[in-house]
Amino acid sequence: MIENDALYIGLISGTSADSIDAVLVRFREGKPQTLASHAHPWPAALRERVLAVAQGEAALDLDAWGRLDVEIGHQFADAALHLLQHGGPTTAAAVRAIGSHGQTLRHRPFGNHPFTLQLGDPSVIAERCRIDVVADFRRADVAAGGQGAPLLPALHAMLLAAPDRARVVLNLGGIANLTVLAADGSVRGFDTGPANGLLDAWCLRHRGEPFDRDGAFAASGRVLPGLLDALLADPYFTLPPPKSTGREYFHLDWLATRAPLAALDPADVQATLLELTVRSVAAAVTQHAPDAMEVLVCGGGVHNDRLMRRLGESLAPRLLGSTAGSGIDPDFLEATAFAWLARQRLLHLPGNLPAVTGARGPRVLGAIYSAPAPGSS
Ligand SMILES: Nc1ncnc2c1ncn2[C@@H]1O[C@H](COP(=O)(O)OP(=O)(O)O)[C@@H](O)[C@H]1O
Ligand SMILES: [Mg+2]
Repeated sequence: MIENDALYIGLISGTSADSIDAVLVRFREGKPQTLASHAHPWPAALRERVLAVAQGEAALDLDAWGRLDVEIGHQFADAALHLLQHGGPTTAAAVRAIGSHGQTLRHRPFGNHPFTLQLGDPSVIAERCRIDVVADFRRADVAAGGQGAPLLPALHAMLLAAPDRARVVLNLGGIANLTVLAADGSVRGFDTGPANGLLDAWCLRHRGEPFDRDGAFAASGRVLPGLLDALLADPYFTLPPPKSTGREYFHLDWLATRAPLAALDPADVQATLLELTVRSVAAAVTQHAPDAMEVLVCGGGVHNDRLMRRLGESLAPRLLGSTAGSGIDPDFLEATAFAWLARQRLLHLPGNLPAVTGARGPRVLGAIYSAPAPGSS
């Protein structure tokens, strides 16, 4: 039975590729309740390859691409199996389906023949987990003229909208995206620009650490106004929605082409990159959600104290806080969205919001990859 009390697993690795997030949820009256969650670490070498390809630093021939797809599929299967083994008494047979986002390697929603590409072979996941898998969620929206992203706003609206009062949900992942929940119930959303992706990359290059814990490296530097202005001059920031972006656009080469960096103190650059996120998010909130007095934050950036403090200052007098304050784990909201999208697919219900993605209309998203029949070898 899929209507009520059905169990689903959601899997995603975002643009930060920091971990494969897995969540087991039960849907009650259509709303997800989290039963278990697990952040599955990427093997370091594989993560490096994924990031290099995603940032355009390494090319893939077709053989390497095919193998990478399968390799990522196995990692996603490992994440789901670990969740099942450590997620309480649930067995694979009790799970109706897995919604797997995969790992985005390219997202090119603009221009001729727009496309979006996620790897992580869903057949491998279905075979190893023996659970039906729904995957490839973004392409139907792109085929319908949409951005294929962001797909989170529908779930944000279901879980976090407040009656008669505008709110903003801010997801601080590798890229930052904003969901505007208007007082009249309408929903909009778009990617504002870079968040953790650039901070991670600069920190790795200059500190050898995969991310700037608590924003300490950024806090040790000074914001460089000239560099900040040069970065904010990128046309993406003033492009009207619908819009979405990724690591293939906002990466260290993008930074290097916007301004000469060689003479700059790396800590000052880190401080400036943090401020770039703050300024671009604050401008987007001011322009697109002038009435919203609450900004609820999810995604890994919520743990970056420095980033949260600066965002709070820039968005004042609006209140800024984690979605945890509304009972929603900020680290697993995105994975939950893919469990929800899998359920939408099985119920033949749309997963996109055309007002967000710009698609011609609502679309049922994703394709189903069947598990082996029960009892088969
Ligand atoms: N304690 C912390 N201090 C600073 N940054 C953090 C902290 N914890 C997580 N992050 C950031 O959050 C990122 C992961 O966020 P996430 O929402 O998973 O992004 P994505 O959806 O792109 O994978 C990490 O790469 C890191 O930059
Ligand atoms: Mg992540």
